Amino acid sequence: MTMTTVRVTTLANLSLVAACALLIAALTPQAVLAAAAEQPETVCIQCHSTLPDQLGAPVNLWRKSIHAENGISCNSCHGGDPRIADQAMSPAHGFLGAPKDPDVPAFCGRCHPGVLKDYLASKHGKALGKGGPTCFTCHSNHLVLKASLDLINEKTCTQCHDFERARTIKAAMMQTEGYVLSIDRRITDYQNRGIDVERLAKSLFSVRNRFHTLFHDVDVTRVKSESAQINADLGKIDQELKGIESVMHQRKLAGGIVVAFLLGLAGLLHLLKKTFD
Ligand code: HEC
Ligand code: HEC
Ligand code: HEC
Ligand code: HEC
Ligand code: HEC
Repeated sequence: MTMTTVRVTTLANLSLVAACALLIAALTPQAVLAAAAEQPETVCIQCHSTLPDQLGAPVNLWRKSIHAENGISCNSCHGGDPRIADQAMSPAHGFLGAPKDPDVPAFCGRCHPGVLKDYLASKHGKALGKGGPTCFTCHSNHLVLKASLDLINEKTCTQCHDFERARTIKAAMMQTEGYVLSIDRRITDYQNRGIDVERLAKSLFSVRNRFHTLFHDVDVTRVKSESAQINADLGKIDQELKGIESVMHQRKLAGGIVVAFLLGLAGLLHLLKKTFD
């Protein structure tokens, strides 16, 4: 083999590798996202990961958190300079230290002002510093995960009072949560089939946001009455989806094979999407 052929084959191999890489990247958005979310190793992480117990533990907990996933690093919460090791924890560089329990809501609330407002107005917020729960009682401080109704559980909620009131609030929210999820699935299904349901998707998004602001009030009466309103709004979206469904059904009867074929394709795409989700 001459030099030229070697170079040509190498080039060919390289572009093949590149093409494969691109293909794999295109097929696994999750992997790409994970890579993009990988955090730069700040001096905070470098030093703390070598420290024992309480000082080192936050690093691995935080790595699995929704905050790490969204680029909120040690210094985003604790302040300080993430680039210069010997100045990292200097108050002159904005280091805030670890907040005392009663200061936690304001500490977290810098970035979650809506939640902070609801929490402070609630029975829980009113009991802050007097035995009430603070943000990390329910969410933890470093292993903060995507919020869900699973956070309402016996272990967390019976630390201070019986589970009965927690159960009532959870039951009221679970039903609406189920409704939100089922409508969300149907809208996604339509979107996958290329049917324009953008307006309904937007309505659902706003109803869902309204729903997720309900909890921190821990006001069972309000949860019940607002859930009723939210269920009614979901009912309207549901009705419109049913309208689309019945039009589709008629077309299906008329169009027969074509529709069946497209549905099959959409089903496949949906399956494919599910596989990679
Ligand atoms: C060179 C090592 C080193 C670096 C760099 C470093 N830390 Fe620390 N950190 C420590 C040690 C040792 C302690 C415990 C002693 C102390 O509080 O000074 C500590 C304590 C802390 C505490 C607990 C303080 C308290 O009040 O209990 C927090 C929070 C913290 N570090 C966050 C950070 C953040 C954020 C950064 C980056 C901006 C950072 N650290 C950089 C070594 C380091
Ligand atoms: C979402 C905000 C947030 C992020 C991000 C965060 N912390 Fe913390 N951290 C807290 C809170 C709140 C406390 C106080 C909780 C407590 O008293 O238990 C705390 C406490 C600490 C403490 C004191 C010991 C302890 O566990 O109570 C250390 C040390 C610490 N954090 C280091 C870090 C390091 C290192 C990182 C990055 C790997 C980090 N933190 C990221 C919110 C955060
Ligand atoms: C008594 C437990 C509890 C306390 C205290 C608490 N939370 Fe929550 N939080 C929850 C639960 C449960 C959910 C999920 C609600 C849902 O799925 O609708 C949630 C949801 C959230 C969400 C997501 C809301 C959304 O709009 O999607 C954020 C952000 C949040 N909490 C931050 C905080 C902060 C910041 C504090 C302190 C000021 C705090 N939480 C105090 C239990 C708690
Ligand atoms: C420097 C800004 C910042 C601070 C401080 C902060 N967060 Fe967050 N938090 C974010 C961002 C950004 C996200 C991801 C986007 C989103 O979901 O809002 C997030 C997400 C969350 C979520 C998941 C929300 C969901 O949609 O499910 C919870 C719960 C949460 N944070 C709780 C806390 C708690 C508890 C503290 C204090 C210990 C805290 N945050 C401090 C910025 C912050
Ligand atoms: C650290 C203690 C503590 C924890 C943990 C705690 N609570 Fe509470 N809760 C309180 C206090 C204090 C009150 C107000 C006084 C009272 O009614 O007992 C309260 C009141 C309530 C109320 C009644 C509000 C009203 O308007 O009457 C509900 C509902 C509630 N909590 C739900 C929950 C749920 C759900 C959880 C778990 C996700 C939880 N609590 C975890 C301390 C706690």
